[in-house]
Amino acid sequence: MRKNIVAGNWKMNKNVTEAQDLMFQLLEYKRNHTPNCKVWIAPPSLYLMMAKDLYEQNEIGVFSQDMSEHESGAYTGETSADMLESIGVNGSLIGHSERRLYHGETDSHCNRKIKLALDKGLTPIYCNGETLDQRKSGQHLEVVKNQTEVALFTLSADEIKKVVIAYEPVWAIGTGETASPEQAQEIHAHIRNLIANKYGNEVADEISILYGGSVKPDNAKEIFSQPDIDGGLIGGAALKMADFAQIIEGF
Ligand code: G3P
Repeated sequence: MRKNIVAGNWKMNKNVTEAQDLMFQLLEYKRNHTPNCKVWIAPPSLYLMMAKDLYEQNEIGVFSQDMSEHESGAYTGETSADMLESIGVNGSLIGHSERRLYHGETDSHCNRKIKLALDKGLTPIYCNGETLDQRKSGQHLEVVKNQTEVALFTLSADEIKKVVIAYEPVWAIGTGETASPEQAQEIHAHIRNLIANKYGNEVADEISILYGGSVKPDNAKEIFSQPDIDGGLIGGAALKMADFAQIIEGF
């Protein structure tokens, strides 16, 4: 079901005291405001149970930053969909550009992870986006098309409707160089059209497509006002409650 979402990807930040402090600040904010969007966080995996315990009323969605492509077994350091489901996590980021860059993750890996997540009732937040070189050489539409097809197009219509997509141009992540609302809208509309061509308009219109890449308090409202942008996946600005609150209020 298409909905407005602001999700904070904490990446590898905050010790346990700092994480608990921010989680409490966010809970306090949520209980004293009525945002026009879903509010989700993806803290480091160490803190997922703490977040679930704190947000037991599900006021705030709790997501892992990654999950294994395997069901279980000798995969040191990995976390399975079953483990995440067993502690009540709502879903997982899948295919973040930093996983692709540092861990060689591909869209085929993402496809397997997305299926495992859906089979366990978890919401996948599938991340894709082009690099600066691909943008400069005009390949961005083709790159995102291929990413989307490989990662998602083996899913049924009922399955893909449960996926949240996050378009994150790699050149905008952590750089302070945000895609313009027009640049972001072009790719979001492109992704939605690809899905509509395969699954029909009704299915495509049910899917939330988030933008990620240097979303800040001063640009969130304009980005979120675009017709095919349903919210944001926020990195640095999610680590400061005041900034995250202003972004949430961008809706
Ligand atoms: O997953 C969201 C993240 O990649 C965006 O980071 O710091 O550019 O908001 P940032």
